[in-house]
Amino acid sequence: MLRHVMIIAHLSDIHLDGGERALDRTRRVMRYLRGCRVDVILVSGDLADHGEIHEYEQVKAELAADVPVLMLPGNHDRRSPYRKVLLDDAGDAPINQLHRVGGVLFALCDSSIPGRHDGLLAPETLAWLREVLATADAPVFVGLHHHPIPLHNPLVDGIGLLNAGELATIVGQSPQVVATLCGHAHTAAAGMFGGRPVLAAPGVVSTTRLPWTTDDELTWANTADLDDAPGVAFHVLDDDGGLTTHFRIAPA
Ligand SMILES: [Fe+2]
Ligand SMILES: [Fe+2]
Repeated sequence: MLRHVMIIAHLSDIHLDGGERALDRTRRVMRYLRGCRVDVILVSGDLADHGEIHEYEQVKAELAADVPVLMLPGNHDRRSPYRKVLLDDAGDAPINQLHRVGGVLFALCDSSIPGRHDGLLAPETLAWLREVLATADAPVFVGLHHHPIPLHNPLVDGIGLLNAGELATIVGQSPQVVATLCGHAHTAAAGMFGGRPVLAAPGVVSTTRLPWTTDDELTWANTADLDDAPGVAFHVLDDDGGLTTHFRIAPA
């Protein structure tokens, strides 16, 4: 009989901006998760909508939970205010963090490019990740904001991870990597990357439309479905190293 060793609640793209809409949807998801027995919560970027100090203060308050809450930056985040409020730190270097929760490691990479919406893992980030994986003594989830595989919405695919090939090589060479976890695309999605699963959490603030579900030509003005309910991914790690993901809508 398999036993799970860890349940990871994975949400993304809360885009808190001080306004009601993003706040209501974030609260809806967090209220749901506080009633669930999960071991850790991962929020894969676009925490703040404009990277402002007051937005990060909202992030800090709204994402509080009784289990560890891990976060990483997205293209809407700004490193300096993020560091100041969430890490009590200064500077604007890439925010790369290694967390250990239970017997599992989370290598969270900063894929943001200041001032741009597409993503890149800087040389120092790639070097950091190689070192983390070379010395890892436990299963590792690699986290980043930008999706490293095509998701078949041409707009979103135009702002993906520019050096996905380099990351795929690193992931593929490390036996400890269980999966890559990302956000940014605002769509619950699963694929393969570097020979392992890659799992994108749904976007809390909106859901990206898929081209084959509408007759309209997708533009940045209409590609976000604002009415779709906010959701979360639950990644279940078994004690034999297996991984199962469930996607759920947060009840209203
Ligand atoms: Fe986003
Ligand atoms: Fe994003």
